[in-house]
Amino acid sequence: MTDTDTYEIFLVAPPGLEPVLADEARAAGFATPTASPGGVTIHGDWAEVWRANLTLRGATRVLVRLGSFRAFHLAQLDKRARKFPWGDVLRADIPVRVEAVCKRSKIYHHKAAAQRVETAIRETLGATISKDAALVLKVRIDDNLVTISLDTSGDSLHKRGYKTATGKAPMRETLAALFLNAAGYDGQEPVLDPMCGSGTFLIEAAEMSVGLLPGRARHFAFEHLASFDAEAFAKMKTATRVQVAEAPPRFFGSDRNAGAIANSQQNAEAAGVAPLTHFTEAAISDLERPDAPPGLVIVNPPYGGRIGNKKLLFALYGTLGKVLMERFAGWRVAIITSDGGLAKATGLPFLPPGPPVDHGGTKVKLYQTSQLP
Ligand SMILES: C[S@@+](CC[C@H](N)C(=O)[O-])C[C@H]1O[C@@H](n2cnc3c(N)ncnc32)[C@H](O)[C@@H]1O
Repeated sequence: MTDTDTYEIFLVAPPGLEPVLADEARAAGFATPTASPGGVTIHGDWAEVWRANLTLRGATRVLVRLGSFRAFHLAQLDKRARKFPWGDVLRADIPVRVEAVCKRSKIYHHKAAAQRVETAIRETLGATISKDAALVLKVRIDDNLVTISLDTSGDSLHKRGYKTATGKAPMRETLAALFLNAAGYDGQEPVLDPMCGSGTFLIEAAEMSVGLLPGRARHFAFEHLASFDAEAFAKMKTATRVQVAEAPPRFFGSDRNAGAIANSQQNAEAAGVAPLTHFTEAAISDLERPDAPPGLVIVNPPYGGRIGNKKLLFALYGTLGKVLMERFAGWRVAIITSDGGLAKATGLPFLPPGPPVDHGGTKVKLYQTSQLP
């Protein structure tokens, strides 16, 4: 293998939002994005793997398919794993960990399968096997076909590397970016979140508007691979570096919780987008229309689970809908919530909702309107 080889690259996505990630990958110029359950497949060389990790906002992680072979029993797996060209991709001095899954195959014991591959790597390449290794190799045995993939991201890509302050139930950055795209955010219009928590939607939107790369402040597992070229990657990063200029704010956040506002402010500063944002402590009933052209209101209000809260929640959604209808003519609204009844309680003219998406163990949907009358 050389670094000009083209690989099948799998971008992991939250189930339900695969087509949104496929659109993002297409817009970013990646080759042949195809959505399938759990992600999007593209093709490219190692530089495209770095670029996917560095620039795609919606991908949870980026896996590279290194190769596949048939194995009908463990001895065969052992033999073929020893012939696999590990040294083309892995380094002898970097520890690695193997995870295996088996489906519809004669080899059914995933731990034994993982152990065979680990032994092959240790004995043919000389790399250490460690359960804490930053590099994770994924072995999937399906219908007796062994497919070897590598997780090139390391930490989940929602960890942008700058967030210092989170409140309760923050939205993952990857999910927030996908919902912004699904709500038709074009990178230009103002965005307002009246229950902004730690400010995730606004910071993602502000970064998108100025072209700040989501992966600019973090490290990736691919930096430990034999194929990594630190100089070329540094060039890729600097080629897209932008300076955020002072400008009137276009990203407005409010929350009734003072701690949330302090967190949002701190996160916006850490992300380098503070000049574009404006945060105020305010309850939804006191929400004011900002002095800006109409844009997108995006919010994930509390949805709670406790029965005692239900009445209060219905009232809160009712107030939210009323305030938006009265004060936000011309704006579009996107609400992410788990409960169709709560969405309905806003009285807002929603289009049909999006598919269910897992958010911290709860299924949520995106409810959006056209421009409010
Ligand atoms: C689910 S959290 C939003 C999380 C946010 N999207 C993030 O990524 O961090 C809901 C937020 O609504 C705020 N909230 C609840 N009731 C409110 C009200 N009446 N007015 C304004 N904010 C309210 C809470 O303080 C909380 O920060």
